[in-house]
Amino acid sequence: MSNIKVSTEDNVGIIQLDRPEAANALSRQVVGEIVEQLEAFDQKDSVRAIIIKGNKKAFAAGADIDEMMDDSPLSLELADPFAVWDRITLINKPIIAAVSGFALGGGFELALHCDLIVASEDAKFGFPEITLGVMPGAGGTQLLTKAIGKAKTLEWIWLGKPRSAQEALEHGAINRVVAPELVEEETMRLAHQVADQAPVAVRLIKEAVNEAVDTPLIEGSKLERKNFYLTFATEDQKEGMQAFTEKRKPSFKGE
Ligand code: HXC
Repeated sequence: MSNIKVSTEDNVGIIQLDRPEAANALSRQVVGEIVEQLEAFDQKDSVRAIIIKGNKKAFAAGADIDEMMDDSPLSLELADPFAVWDRITLINKPIIAAVSGFALGGGFELALHCDLIVASEDAKFGFPEITLGVMPGAGGTQLLTKAIGKAKTLEWIWLGKPRSAQEALEHGAINRVVAPELVEEETMRLAHQVADQAPVAVRLIKEAVNEAVDTPLIEGSKLERKNFYLTFATEDQKEGMQAFTEKRKPSFKGE
């Protein structure tokens, strides 16, 4: 069964995450489906811009904790489940995230992999991984640092506290904040504006701007993944994820 809904409106391709029962948590299957659809849109001449959206409650509440809680450093190293995210950085067409509700952990990373982010006033952005005894693993440390700088990034990721859309805007992490009922309309308007520009120039501009920010993102992301996988060597990861499923506060021991 598919976990995304795919549609097009004129020359804009739309991917909607569709796992409402799990706050659109990004299981490995969901990420695979998103990446494959992005690549399909990238190949399709009639599509000139792509929107990724969730639902009212959540853009995406992160990687699927139930799926990963029993992983080990070795199982992660061998399967390298987050390597597939690198394929998003290779998409040539503009990608715009429409964020309502929670964009946490891997959900925030998915938004940061997009080129532009439009958010609802009630959206919440953050990296709560530290509260699970782990860290971002799908580009978060790299992409947020490139977007807003080191000091603010460390504060966001070390404290793990979700931030409002307004704060994310003030930090320069996102492009626009609009009333909840206008998110889809505003994102579509922006997508059409970009999609109506000369496609080759749009593509070459994306490549050039990425070149400017990218002191190899893929290299940084590889290091980040190794470190993420290593957090699964700790008791704190087991405690953090167990506490989440038992809906209680974790008790971390530093081992
Ligand atoms: C699995 C999740 C989930 C997740 C929510 N759910 N987030 N399941 N993985 N990341 C499930 C809940 O267990 C619950 O299922 C249902 O979705 C609704 O969530 P609730 O918690 O009941 O809703 P609410 O009280 O409104 O809280 C929403 C929330 C909270 C603030 C988003 O669910 C939350 O804190 N989620 C975890 C966020 C997080 O820690 N993300 C980082 C993950 S680590 P049931 O069955 O009980 O109804 C990560 C690493 C990135 O992303 C690595 C690279 C990809």
